[in-house]
Amino acid sequence: MVETFVHSTEDVVEFLRGQHNQIRDMFDDVVHASGAAARETAFVELRQLLAVHETAEEMVVHPRARRDIDGGDIIVDARLREEHEAKEQLAALERLDVESAEFMAALVIFKATVVDHAEREESEEFDRLQHELDPAELKLMVAAVQAAQAIAPTRPHPGVESKTLNVVIGPFASMLDRARDIISAAMR
Ligand SMILES: [Fe+2]
Ligand SMILES: [Fe+2]
Repeated sequence: MVETFVHSTEDVVEFLRGQHNQIRDMFDDVVHASGAAARETAFVELRQLLAVHETAEEMVVHPRARRDIDGGDIIVDARLREEHEAKEQLAALERLDVESAEFMAALVIFKATVVDHAEREESEEFDRLQHELDPAELKLMVAAVQAAQAIAPTRPHPGVESKTLNVVIGPFASMLDRARDIISAAMR
């Protein structure tokens, strides 16, 4: 089972790289889950982490990359387009039954979009950010990103009905809203 949190206190880039690895593992959890309830739980957890991760990038990391790295605008605009595409794929995925063949087919495509996006971030954006910013600044930025993990505090208890989970946790769009609120508060 994958840990929901990355506990690194290192810089923001290392922290986000760690989350990329976790996201890949969580896709595997959704694919390999046995039964509808387990798959739905794994899918909720994946969406929580994606909400935290992408919101942190959009609010904390991309603005700095835009400002501080050469060609930042072009690089960040491309990342935002990829993130937008991934969000649209996820919105479609959320409307499907997790037990259906359509869900699994759409999940494979969504995973490829997300993993490809993560690799581009690492190679085109993160490395340069790490090079341009000093370590103290990178460490400071990790605080806001860590704060956002509060929206995914624990793994749901075994036996929790998937219906209840959906009521409590809501769709991806509302997870994004909650992550935004927490990061805004942490950045003040
Ligand atoms: Fe991203
Ligand atoms: Fe990312």
